[in-house]
Amino acid sequence: MDEIIIRGGRPLAGTTLVSGAKNAALPILFASILSPERCRLENVPKVADCRTARHLLERIGVELVELEEAGSAVVLRTPTILSYEAPYELVKTMRASFLALGPLLARFGAARVATPGGCAIGSRPVDLHLEGMARMGADVRHSHGYVEASAPSRGESPARLRGTRIALPFPSVGATENLMLAASLAIGTTVIENAAREPEIVDLAEVLSEMGAHVGGAGSSVIEVHGRDELGGFCHRVIPDRIEAGTFLIAAAATGGDVTVRGARSEHLGSLLEALSGAGVDLETEGDAIRVRASRGLRGIDVATAPFPGFPTDLQAQLMAFLCRAEGESVITETIFENRFMHVQELVRLGADIRVDGSKATVRGVPSLEGAEVMATDLRASVCLVVAALGAANTTRLQRVYHLDRGYEHLEEKLTALGADLRRVRGPAATFAHTFGDESGDGAGSSGASNGSVEGGEPPVLHAGARGDGSAS
Ligand code: EPZ
Repeated sequence: MDEIIIRGGRPLAGTTLVSGAKNAALPILFASILSPERCRLENVPKVADCRTARHLLERIGVELVELEEAGSAVVLRTPTILSYEAPYELVKTMRASFLALGPLLARFGAARVATPGGCAIGSRPVDLHLEGMARMGADVRHSHGYVEASAPSRGESPARLRGTRIALPFPSVGATENLMLAASLAIGTTVIENAAREPEIVDLAEVLSEMGAHVGGAGSSVIEVHGRDELGGFCHRVIPDRIEAGTFLIAAAATGGDVTVRGARSEHLGSLLEALSGAGVDLETEGDAIRVRASRGLRGIDVATAPFPGFPTDLQAQLMAFLCRAEGESVITETIFENRFMHVQELVRLGADIRVDGSKATVRGVPSLEGAEVMATDLRASVCLVVAALGAANTTRLQRVYHLDRGYEHLEEKLTALGADLRRVRGPAATFAHTFGDESGDGAGSSGASNGSVEGGEPPVLHAGARGDGSAS
């Protein structure tokens, strides 16, 4: 199993460029199922989750070509499909595979998609996706761990979903996306109330509009999708990854560094910039560049995660790593996922003083952290340990780093270019998760893709009794 060895204590310095957003690329890749025409997506990050999406799309029958010469672009075409199914082996590897449901149902009238189980960060049901599809007329059944759904047929071939009004009890990102995808080919207009407002939703709306669906209100709480009988292709560039950008800003601050993050959109990072500046970090924004400097004393702050534009749950762990050494007390409240403090015990191993009480973590700043062996449990928890280790004294060995590969493109290279001292040690065997499809990060399993279960790499090895890897157990 790979490890990353980090020698901390060096302030990061220099400039780094943000990659495309994984969480924007994934729903857009699935949008390609909606059209028989050519769909071109640029700035797709080279991360394991996007490779898993590619495998699933190919399984369904999407023709997919990666254009290496154009950087990270892919061209997709779906004249027809080979299968209505998103199998468990891929859904357990990546939870976002559930986004195949809406497009398959809308265009081909049927879908069979494995139900994602719980995951490292919470139980994460998909009830809101399914209730929304049912409101659009779908017949939704559960059978042997799969959701089998079909669109109502009134003489149309294939059967079609029907637009309707759907009020989400919680602004779920995935449910909003799945329903937008489905609504784009439904008969009539769908109104999604209490929709998620994340930038990734706006990016998906742009693509669906380019394909011919009329999407209004994306970025607000009410989204209106006027469905079309057919959709065309698209040519789109994925937005920059706000979570990656935020991670670098926090890492720079945690090491007392001076880093400019280029390609970032400050309007996507408002709550983080406010939090960092409240903690005493100097920030300057100019165009798509954000410069962060943390030379003076830093102080604790209170932060609660919330749907956009609130503080993102995907930056909670990284911010906690930073606050471990800020003077005074910080209280972090996690409101989105019920189990997203798995990194706390690992931070404590590095010398942090953190107490968890339900959804609240109280962090008392300590003067320094000390390197140790720690274990990643999900995507953002792993990168939080990297952030902590970069600011810690001595050497940290981070295990189960396959979680990182799900969502960070060239992380080690980018950090090394900023002066960090870290290296990956390749292990001889694949992971527990590889064998069992461990759930993590985006809820889904991690490493399958990064370690080869999907990529056809190393052979699986069972680490008996392995635990704390973010698996659902
Ligand atoms: C997306 O997950 C992101 N994943 C997550 O990023 C992110 O943490 C999350 O949104 C919140 O911002 C992708 O975009 C691929 P939700 P998603 O539906 O769509 C509950 C990362 O690290 N809920 O907004 O699954 C759910 O249990 C990952 O990159 C229901 O109860 O998030 C959770 O508590 C991790 N029923 C809350 O809503 C449902 O049907 C938010 O989930 C759906 C969700």
